Amino acid sequence: MVETVADVMADLEPEDFHLLSGVEQGMRFSEWVNREKLPEFTGLTSENVDFHLNRMLDLEFVERKTIQYEGIKLTQRGYDALALHTFAERDTIEGFGAPLGVGKESDVHEVQSYKPLALKFHREGFSNFREVHRGREYTADREHVSWLYTARKAAEREYEALKGLYPEVSVPQPIDQNRHAIIMEKVPGVELAKATLPDEQVTGVLELVLQEMQSAADGGYIHADISEYNVFVAESGITLFDWPQAVPTDHENSTELLKRDIENITSYFERKYPGEVDSVDVQAVFGAIKERNFSTLPAE
Ligand SMILES: Nc1ncnc2c1ncn2[C@@H]1O[C@H](COP(=O)(O)OP(=O)(O)OP(=O)(O)O)[C@@H](O)[C@H]1O
Ligand SMILES: [Mg+2]
Repeated sequence: MVETVADVMADLEPEDFHLLSGVEQGMRFSEWVNREKLPEFTGLTSENVDFHLNRMLDLEFVERKTIQYEGIKLTQRGYDALALHTFAERDTIEGFGAPLGVGKESDVHEVQSYKPLALKFHREGFSNFREVHRGREYTADREHVSWLYTARKAAEREYEALKGLYPEVSVPQPIDQNRHAIIMEKVPGVELAKATLPDEQVTGVLELVLQEMQSAADGGYIHADISEYNVFVAESGITLFDWPQAVPTDHENSTELLKRDIENITSYFERKYPGEVDSVDVQAVFGAIKERNFSTLPAE
């Protein structure tokens, strides 16, 4: 089995990172970087390119393919290694820990620092270009988009939203961002989907979620993917996370997305706790948020 990226980080040499970042640079121009160009992109001698390229191939940090030329590209592991290296150099993280959540479009791990933090690697664009293009308008206008670009953009957008919202809104505190990765506070609690709330708390928790959505709108953002998987509940309260697809309140679809978010979360509560939700009037909540945040927009 291939070792995890974190396990091999300590054995990597500075030239390994020069090799990786040279391949990364080359990938701005083509998916497969011509092997012949590597001395130029990496600043390494040809002998050093040979040596470190072999090491990186063995670790599966890069891949090779012979097309009209010998082509090299970064793998996800290689891109992860570059981001981890940057965070370590900036002293943002000191160690890598257990997985916190592994999804289709992200890997989230605990990392050690002055306190436990969470590192999220974005995976958008890696496995399914078309889905990403359809759902997320920020790449739709580019004809060829590499997964490096798509995943980095998603991380940047999520980080920007967290910075805009924290601490007024209950979101994980953003700590750092590099390439396709963000570092944030590790949030206590469990996903709403995995929690079983006592009956008397059901309505209160739903109200808390709606209040945070209100605060987010006040702060200029609609989440646009609110669900029982993106809300954490703990003794101390609730947290909304997973913000890469958030849109600003002045976005043309923001009111529709807000309405969908409110409906999604409300109907989840009604399905899971039938009869326990004191009828939440979706229209009224929507109307109140709209009045506060969209009064300058033309009526629908
Ligand atoms: N800051 C955090 N602290 C603790 N756990 C976290 C944190 N961020 C994410 N997680 C865990 O990792 C899981 C996945 O995170 P997140 O929802 O952000 O990504 P995702 O659902 O894979 O994203 P996407 O919607 O892009 O596919 C969460 O459901 C949660 O269990
Ligand atoms: Mg999620």
